[in-house]
Amino acid sequence: MIRCIVVLSAIFSLIFTQDDVVEDTQFATCQINSTEVQTTANATVKRQLKGVCTYKQIELKFQELEEKLLAELGIIKQLLEGDGKTVRTNDYYDYEERSLKIGGPVSTTDDPITSVTEQVFHTSSWVRTEIDHLNNTIHVHKGEKLFVYYWEIPEIDSILPKNGVHIRSADFYVLGHQLCLQLYPNHLPDYLAIQLRPSSNFFKKHKFAILDHFDGSTDIVSQVFGGVGSYEALYKVPYAKLQERNYLHDDKLVIKLTIFLNS
Ligand SMILES: *[C@@H]1O[C@H](CO)[C@@H](O)[C@H](O)[C@H]1NC(C)=O
Ligand SMILES: *[C@@H]1O[C@H](CO)[C@@H](O)[C@H](O)[C@H]1NC(C)=O
Ligand SMILES: *[C@@H]1O[C@H](CO)[C@@H](O)[C@H](O)[C@H]1NC(C)=O
Repeated sequence: MIRCIVVLSAIFSLIFTQDDVVEDTQFATCQINSTEVQTTANATVKRQLKGVCTYKQIELKFQELEEKLLAELGIIKQLLEGDGKTVRTNDYYDYEERSLKIGGPVSTTDDPITSVTEQVFHTSSWVRTEIDHLNNTIHVHKGEKLFVYYWEIPEIDSILPKNGVHIRSADFYVLGHQLCLQLYPNHLPDYLAIQLRPSSNFFKKHKFAILDHFDGSTDIVSQVFGGVGSYEALYKVPYAKLQERNYLHDDKLVIKLTIFLNS
């Protein structure tokens, strides 16, 4: 059996503002240790309660938050324990995809709170955890054998305005082939382009993603490239798109390459 230690620490803070608006911000850090899986999730929950709040209602909200957190931990535990089967490190991938979204409006029975808005942010350590688990590895996901590589490009703000240059990733090796990624700033005006460059014939389907540092569900994902002789294909992304969410956070761009090894 897998031994699993789950540590949950949560910090709650309540801020009373004008007009009977109450904000509560909650930081939750959840660390799971098992013999085969280690991961850390850090989420910030910020919700705004509008309307008249009594102490009793606030207590109720806290109870609901607690229940939700416990329910999420239940899901994590289930994933770790499976049906008594061994958990492979690859299972992390599914776990990550589920994403700790706290859903649904709270129940309003006997409750004068008129509206609740709730946002959940993951800190960028989420992306870091994904990189630490999957970078430069081969794993099976939904029956597909995948190679995954992450390229982090620092000081991206000073790179994007450049013209007539390209940037190369470090070389990496897949099935004995030497590959690298290239980034072309201003390939078209205000478009960057990404390309997979094998040093020898290597005809596998592949796709790129530009990671949102905070929310894996909003990564910019390319179409699937590949097939014989199609390596000239460049994936072009407009700069405007990169501004839409947290793709350039901390002056870093993170590109994920996925190669479909069975293709
Ligand atoms: C979980 O494992 C990490 C790394 O081995 C260790 O630093 C940490 O103290 C462990 N946490 C618990 C609660 O055992
Ligand atoms: C989690 O995020 C909070 C708020 O950003 C931060 O204070 C805390 O240090 C983070 N904890 C970990 C384990 O990353
Ligand atoms: C992924 O792994 C390769 C090889 O170990 C390393 O050169 C590269 O920096 C790693 N990528 C990230 C984003 O850490």
